[in-house]
Amino acid sequence: MTQVSMTVNGKAVSGDVEGRTLLSSFLRDKLGMTGTHVGCDTSQCGACVVHVDGAAVKSCTMLALEAEGASVDTIEGQAAADGSLNAIQQAFQDHHGLQCGFCTPGMVMSAAALLKENPKPSESDVREYLEGNICRCTGYHNIVKAIMAASGQDVSAIAAE
Ligand code: FES
Ligand code: FES
Repeated sequence: MTQVSMTVNGKAVSGDVEGRTLLSSFLRDKLGMTGTHVGCDTSQCGACVVHVDGAAVKSCTMLALEAEGASVDTIEGQAAADGSLNAIQQAFQDHHGLQCGFCTPGMVMSAAALLKENPKPSESDVREYLEGNICRCTGYHNIVKAIMAASGQDVSAIAAE
């Protein structure tokens, strides 16, 4: 076992991990932060997306030890301290961008990374960016709409699914 230390949602954390421990497992099993979901463990589904030093990363593709000293942001850090949702989370709620919610943490974290690099994405920009995030429930339409709404764009012309 080796000790790993990093900052998660602005708070310093550390724990003992094996060399093979994935960042997703460290977050969920060691820190109890189960908001980061694991749908496949094989880099397919995107449910485990977090930000590492500001970049969206599938946390099942990264070893915990590789995040030594990094700044990690997870879905648990997205809402304000008083529990109010951020703009992306609120848009998912307003535009019915989720059903079972399993994919939602990864979707929200991917959306946040997208809007940081492209503040006014087109519908095709959003669909292309979400290529690595799988949703089994929604058909994606309302997710795309929610993300465009979160970017401040008028989505009234986009029909609800
Ligand atoms: S759990 Fe990481 S991509 Fe599916
Ligand atoms: S809302 Fe169920 S998997 Fe996306």
